[in-house]
Amino acid sequence: MSSMNSPWFLALDIDDQELAIDLASRTAPFVGGFKVGPRLCMRFGPSLIAKLAAHRPVFVDNKYFDIPSTMEAAVRATFEAGASFVTVHAQAGSEALHRLANLERDLSHQRPFRILAVTILTSFSQSGLPVVSSAMPIKDQVMKLADLVMTSGLRGIVCSSEEVYPIRQLYPESYLVVPGIRLPGQGRGDQTRVADPATALHGGASALVVGRPVVEASDPIVAARQIDEICKAVTRSK
Ligand code: C5P
Repeated sequence: MSSMNSPWFLALDIDDQELAIDLASRTAPFVGGFKVGPRLCMRFGPSLIAKLAAHRPVFVDNKYFDIPSTMEAAVRATFEAGASFVTVHAQAGSEALHRLANLERDLSHQRPFRILAVTILTSFSQSGLPVVSSAMPIKDQVMKLADLVMTSGLRGIVCSSEEVYPIRQLYPESYLVVPGIRLPGQGRGDQTRVADPATALHGGASALVVGRPVVEASDPIVAARQIDEICKAVTRSK
């Protein structure tokens, strides 16, 4: 799975199933996988995942954060719906992550499947953190959570471009997914810890997540092709 045809996921952050499938089929030549979150999953669930998986691997970004047994059940159901990647929150803690690492190992015998543990959302800046976790610098929190993920036996981590380099240095075997990607001059929207695709990949990202820069582009196919070309140029230069 780490050898996706292009190392990025297109975040299908739209509400309409027909639009999502149309965008997926037209961007598939330039995209490594498609990411869907609750807004599509709640409406169209497994049938949409199956339709998207006919084009590229599907990444279900529902960010599960619950007691360990509930997280296991949710991850298993997501796998059975056809996803190849799923997110959970690293802050769910050691027991949950250990149990999920065992589950990932079991499910991967059937087909490639990776659990990605989200550290600190890329929309957070230090000043915007919840009051219970605002004392420790974001980078330190991300590094602690990355350590927890790796110690648990999982390898998939979601972090921002600001933390990807130190995590890659410490954990060469990790699979690092970086959202918050913008081309120079593009608006950040609600993201704060952002970088351009080449910077994130040079920093050590295994794969990127790109949503609005493609979905809201005047021509999403042209935008997807541009991201693909940048990704492939970086891969060739490594
Ligand atoms: O539109 P944009 O490129 O900012 O979309 C980023 C996508 O990645 C969104 O679907 C968002 O939910 C997701 N994501 C994120 N930051 C994380 C984890 C997931 O932005 N830490």
